[in-house]
Amino acid sequence: MESVQAIKQRFGIIGNNQKLNRAIEKAIQVSPTDISVLVTGESGVGKESIPKIIHQLSHRKHGKYIAVNCGAIPEGTIDSELFGHEKGAFTGATQTRSGYFEVADNGTIFLDEVGELPLTTQVRLLRVLENGEFLKVGSSQVQKTNVRIVAATNVNMFEAIKKGKFREDLYYRLSTVEINLPPLRDRTEDIHLLFRKFASDFALKYKMPTIKLTDEATLELLKFRWNGNIRQLRNVAEQISVLEENRTITGDTIRGYLPNATSNLPAVISNTKSESDFSSEREILYKVLFDMKADLSDLKKLTAELMKHGNDKDVQKNNEGLIQKIYGNESDAEYDEAEDDLEILSIAEQSATALVDNNLNALDKYHFAEEIQEEETLSLQDKELELIKKSLERHQGKRKLAASELGISERTLYRKIKQYDL
Ligand SMILES: Nc1ncnc2c1ncn2[C@@H]1O[C@H](COP(=O)(O)OP(=O)(O)O)[C@@H](O)[C@H]1O
Ligand SMILES: [Mg+2]
Repeated sequence: MESVQAIKQRFGIIGNNQKLNRAIEKAIQVSPTDISVLVTGESGVGKESIPKIIHQLSHRKHGKYIAVNCGAIPEGTIDSELFGHEKGAFTGATQTRSGYFEVADNGTIFLDEVGELPLTTQVRLLRVLENGEFLKVGSSQVQKTNVRIVAATNVNMFEAIKKGKFREDLYYRLSTVEINLPPLRDRTEDIHLLFRKFASDFALKYKMPTIKLTDEATLELLKFRWNGNIRQLRNVAEQISVLEENRTITGDTIRGYLPNATSNLPAVISNTKSESDFSSEREILYKVLFDMKADLSDLKKLTAELMKHGNDKDVQKNNEGLIQKIYGNESDAEYDEAEDDLEILSIAEQSATALVDNNLNALDKYHFAEEIQEEETLSLQDKELELIKKSLERHQGKRKLAASELGISERTLYRKIKQYDL
């Protein structure tokens, strides 16, 4: 059996982290079998080399190796890509076509981003995994194939299962053995090593002297979160290699290449950007809605008081805080001296009188107002619940990140999780 070191050399894998070594060791161990393997880990951690190792060390190495990015194939064509189709199966199917499962007979298929597979395709995949049988799209003739599956995902499969997006039985079928690759921030001992390797590769590629890091610059690399993992580190090494005339790279220079270098929050990178912009927009809406709700219920309280007691001094005194809260800032900004509490109260009284003037009696009206408030509270609670759920999902249950995205404290979030029984 080839050693982990030899495999790393053969497949160009840099690093000495223990978890990385364990992952490679597992790949070597399962390679002679036909066991399905699920490779897990964040985006950019190097998942793609694992199925290659498994295929190359297996008895299938002379068979085909096909890598399929399940997230990149449109839902409408993925069944046909994987399993083929019969002539006339759908508009444009002018010829019978073989799919990857037929072509890769006796070989290996790597299903990258397997969490993205549509549910209907998952059913077909489960069948192939169970007995090697499949149907071309538009055909009723069962075909047989002998394919080894290695799948990879960077999403939390349990979450996907819980949301009904991934079949549980398929998950267990795929993940007979799971190989997890650690994020780069958990293997800081490898960061400098990887950077030097990339710097030297790019120096060769662009025919320039290799860049060198000062100690301070190295420290910056070690401190950084690397949400895009090795892919991101490689990009940074490439950019600096190409753009910096001075080949000695200082801490200052490197900071210029690291997004949100001072923040510990997830860096905004590539495809997560739009989502994060969207969520901050929602965050604003969320705050506005809750402020409005609070104002409305304050106003209702005051109106009810006025309806009961009229605009007498006691009402003003007893509700001073409320009045200040509702009208305080506005009168500062817009009316200054012109407005005083009395005038404000008389406006409130007018609205109260308008309510009473209605055909319904005052009490009914108040109940009616209460009911409306109840409904508003409910739908706002739904919104809040939905926002919290989505945020937790996005951050894979990490409360700290979700709380920071929602603009509330972790403690408040915890309270809400309990309140909504999440
Ligand atoms: N240990 C490693 N040594 C050298 N390069 C690596 C290593 N791990 C990943 N890479 C490089 O990082 C990039 C991202 O790796 P990839 O396997 O595509 O990540 P993933 O599939 O997990 O998103 C690729 O260019 C790959 O060659
Ligand atoms: Mg990948």
